[in-house]
Amino acid sequence: DGNKGRALITASFNLVNVEGESVTQKDFHGKPMLVYFGFTYCPDVCPTELMRMGQLLDALGRDADKIHPILISVDPDRDTPQAMQSYLKSFHPDIIGLTGTPENIKNAASSFRVFYSKAEDPGSNAGYLIDHSAFVYLMDKNGEYLAHFSPQTDFELMLQRIKKSFSS
Ligand code: NI
Repeated sequence: DGNKGRALITASFNLVNVEGESVTQKDFHGKPMLVYFGFTYCPDVCPTELMRMGQLLDALGRDADKIHPILISVDPDRDTPQAMQSYLKSFHPDIIGLTGTPENIKNAASSFRVFYSKAEDPGSNAGYLIDHSAFVYLMDKNGEYLAHFSPQTDFELMLQRIKKSFSS
């Protein structure tokens, strides 16, 4: 955490939402964003992180509408808008799912300095997994970097940092 990532990480993307509509980071300006990169076939880390995102929204209560909680897929081949929509239903109704072409997802990830790569996994039902970094990014209302959180970050600390972002 801290200021190190400030100059390097920015929200810049051209993706599609679960309705299949094109969206860019500008559509989310005006409120801070909480952004996580993952994929619907992820066996462990993503479900845990998305559950935590939902718990944060619940803990924010009425203030939950002051932030855009977003999942960006790193698995464009399988994560269609429809797949994102049905997947996110099991976590929280307010989480926004974004996917897109392989190139647009690559560009989105690189604006956040997010790493991901396909890994063969003959034991899984689809034959591959996606290794990916598991940080959650807090961006300000203009899409600029404020903070990031790892899966080990304390829940209460995240909650307080998010609340602080409402007045930044
Ligand atoms: Ni994952």
